[in-house]
Amino acid sequence: MKMDIEALCNEWNELNREYTELETCNRRYIELLEQLYSHQQKCFNEIKHQRYRMNQITASLRQFPSPGGPSDKEKLDDLVKMSLKRKAQLHEIEQSLPAKSGRYLQIILGDVNVSILNRNDKVRYKDDYEKFKLILNVIGLIMAFFNLIFNYRALELAFIFLLVWYYCTLTIRESILKVNGSRIKGWWRAHHFISTVAAGVLLVWPQGEHWQLFRQQFMYFNVYISIVQYLQFGYQKGLLYRLKALGERHNMDITIEGFHSWMWRGLSFLLPFLFIGYAFQAYNAWTLYKLAYTPPDAPWHVSVMSGLFLLLFVGNMATTLWVVPEKIRERAKERYRLQSMGKSMKLRKEMKNSASDLDLSASSPTVAATAAAATTPITTTDAAATTTEAATTPTESEKKAN
Ligand code: COA
Repeated sequence: MKMDIEALCNEWNELNREYTELETCNRRYIELLEQLYSHQQKCFNEIKHQRYRMNQITASLRQFPSPGGPSDKEKLDDLVKMSLKRKAQLHEIEQSLPAKSGRYLQIILGDVNVSILNRNDKVRYKDDYEKFKLILNVIGLIMAFFNLIFNYRALELAFIFLLVWYYCTLTIRESILKVNGSRIKGWWRAHHFISTVAAGVLLVWPQGEHWQLFRQQFMYFNVYISIVQYLQFGYQKGLLYRLKALGERHNMDITIEGFHSWMWRGLSFLLPFLFIGYAFQAYNAWTLYKLAYTPPDAPWHVSVMSGLFLLLFVGNMATTLWVVPEKIRERAKERYRLQSMGKSMKLRKEMKNSASDLDLSASSPTVAATAAAATTPITTTDAAATTTEAATTPTESEKKAN
């Protein structure tokens, strides 16, 4: 019995030693968190400074008289290009910093930080969003199909309830994507808010003659939309796949070319299907408009749904028609955006790999000693100083760009 207590005391002492190590590790972690916060603030200030100086330079450029000789014109063009490039670089740096949630997310989720601080994780989250849409669309397609065959109120309500939940969830996911730097147009987010409202109106639309007259057309519309959304998934998935490749290939120019040519091919395939969908929305608005008058005594849901379909038709048509020329206009900007994004993804991957290499070598005792010897002289403040110096000393290319 005495022996057992001795053994337990020894075990406790060993556990105590391990606990001291845990405490040291935690203290180091908290120190790093503090450093992280101060580095974040420094980055915010530097970004603000860069934007301020760039605005000043751009304003002076605007007042610049028309260039005298060809060399002046070349310099002017270079300045414009470099300023576009710098904007893309600053945007990419912002992607590694926390951003505030919008009002909508704050109301729904409370004051919680939803920033994803790694570009590769952002791409993964977007991938997850696209998969979520795909799965829900397949379920929606099956349910719309069954509703075409059977006319059961419970099945119909289950489908409409699924639409309310789906669109509501999309608005939340898209707000998180927006906080994380997505360039999703305001209209697409508004579209999903309006769709939530429309599905809510459908849910409370009483079963009667008017609903029965519109029901079949509505289910066919849903089947068509699910198929179009499957095609949209193929397009977005292809873009995401090429985006991931940007972070892996050595010759980035080739993949940026590949990205663009795939995007245009995908768009020209998708656009006719989208326009047919918009025509279907206009047709729904027209059918409901007629239903609001004949047969008589239409419930208010009919005219509200007619208005909502019309709104969706106009908004979708205008935004899609605007997207294509915008893409042509902003070709150079897009190129710099992809370059910066690719570089940042590559850098994070390399950092992750070298960190895991260090972990591996630290787990082997002989190499661990060497690794420890190599890292010991760098104290916390030294490391911070090195990073700060690197952050404040402009690189050659930055000097050139400034
Ligand atoms: N829903 C959600 N996100 C969208 C979107 C949509 N409808 N359209 C574009 N986005 C996102 C893109 O994924 C991209 O995100 P990122 O910045 O995180 O990479 C961002 O918005 C900018 O996209 P953009 O370059 O403007 O367009 P795109 O090439 O990705 O897509 C279309 C262009 C036209 C194919 C796309 O907008 C689309 O599918 N629109 C039709 C939607 C619709 O009408 N649905 C109803 C069907 S009847």
